[in-house]
Amino acid sequence: MLQATAAARVVCLIVICWCTAPRGAESAIGVNWGILSFHKLKPSIVVHLLKDNKISKVKLFDADPDCIQALMGSGIQVMLGIPNEMLPLFSSSTDASDLWVRRNVSRYVVKNGVDIRYIAVGNEPFLSSYSGQFQSYVMPALLNLQQSLAKVNLASYVKLVVPFNIYPFLSLYGSSDFPQEYAFFEGTSHSVTDGSNVYNNAFDGNFDTLVAALGKLGYGQMPIVIGEVGWPTDGAISANLTAAKTFNQGLIKHVLSNKGTPLRPGVPPVDVYLFGLLDEGAKSTLPGTFERHWGIFSFDGQAKYPLNLGLGSKRLINARNVEYLPSRWSQMQNERSCDFDGIGMVTFLDPSMGDCRFLVGVTDTSSSSSCVSQLHQRSLILWIWIFISWRVWIFVT
Ligand SMILES: *[C@@H]1O[C@H](CO)[C@@H](O)[C@H](O)[C@H]1NC(C)=O
Ligand SMILES: *[C@@H]1O[C@H](CO)[C@@H](O)[C@H](O)[C@H]1NC(C)=O
Repeated sequence: MLQATAAARVVCLIVICWCTAPRGAESAIGVNWGILSFHKLKPSIVVHLLKDNKISKVKLFDADPDCIQALMGSGIQVMLGIPNEMLPLFSSSTDASDLWVRRNVSRYVVKNGVDIRYIAVGNEPFLSSYSGQFQSYVMPALLNLQQSLAKVNLASYVKLVVPFNIYPFLSLYGSSDFPQEYAFFEGTSHSVTDGSNVYNNAFDGNFDTLVAALGKLGYGQMPIVIGEVGWPTDGAISANLTAAKTFNQGLIKHVLSNKGTPLRPGVPPVDVYLFGLLDEGAKSTLPGTFERHWGIFSFDGQAKYPLNLGLGSKRLINARNVEYLPSRWSQMQNERSCDFDGIGMVTFLDPSMGDCRFLVGVTDTSSSSSCVSQLHQRSLILWIWIFISWRVWIFVT
């Protein structure tokens, strides 16, 4: 379920806030915590990672009980997600929306509980690749959920938002004509002029496209939260560490400057959630292999490049107390043998060289109990290395 929506996810996603948040306030940087990983970091380690990096806002794609529980008492503000597949149910049943709100929201929004502030209703339900299949459910689901929140006196505390999207990285990925500089924030010789407004980066241009569309419908003042924005580090020509660092650092500086855009001068987005916190190795690669490389941290919570989130700590702080599986790798005798029928040779020497890191999984009780998922993982990682190198090593977990 999540997999399908994640597959369709794109670089930058805008959420329209179904609310009247104060305008002109300073925006804050948050992160998306996705969990489509074969070996998930323990939620408690992730929450410590957030706190060490002074990240005070996090967005989840679902209402995963382990993640929610780990956030208890952390003081971190949380956006929960409702998968698109649940929209038909909530559009037709107030009992279902009442139950979801009671079980997943109101029981946690208590003293020393979880500070749930937003609920994302669907994940890009209007994406054109869904051919409108979720469209008619969004409004009724919103209304039912709003009533469910009212019943537990949370209607003004917890805001409902609907995710939309725009595409700076994919614009570049999909079109070699797209001026590369326009995707970044470093000034450009390819500015776009719209009447009296001049745009120097795709982010502002896309943002104002939404502002203009909302204005036409009479909602020109509606607060906007950036639900997802980021740049991957691998899996495409324009995806690398330097580009990701340049884009994310430029974005953070731009947003925190409170400059706003030509249509909203001095009014930056309410909040901006980077996509994403961690690499997610189990994401569908249907849109491209870059899908598994969006993290500012690798799957095990290690910073991939220097980044100042503008939150007080000038550099990223790595996850602590990560428990790894034993360090063992096996070497393939020849690259054509891509099954495990005794052709592997176990080595205890880490074959990592320079930037090429041979990863060791983290302990994860939920996946290590399943042979099937381990096998699946092994064949997957095997395939990756086969493409990468003649001298193939297989990662053994
Ligand atoms: C709480 O949310 C999870 C994840 O979306 C969902 O599976 C579960 O059904 C929800 N609980 C209720 C009672 O609706
Ligand atoms: C990284 O990506 C940027 C943006 O597309 C590109 O200009 C640059 O050449 C890439 N760097 C490397 C080392 O591939």
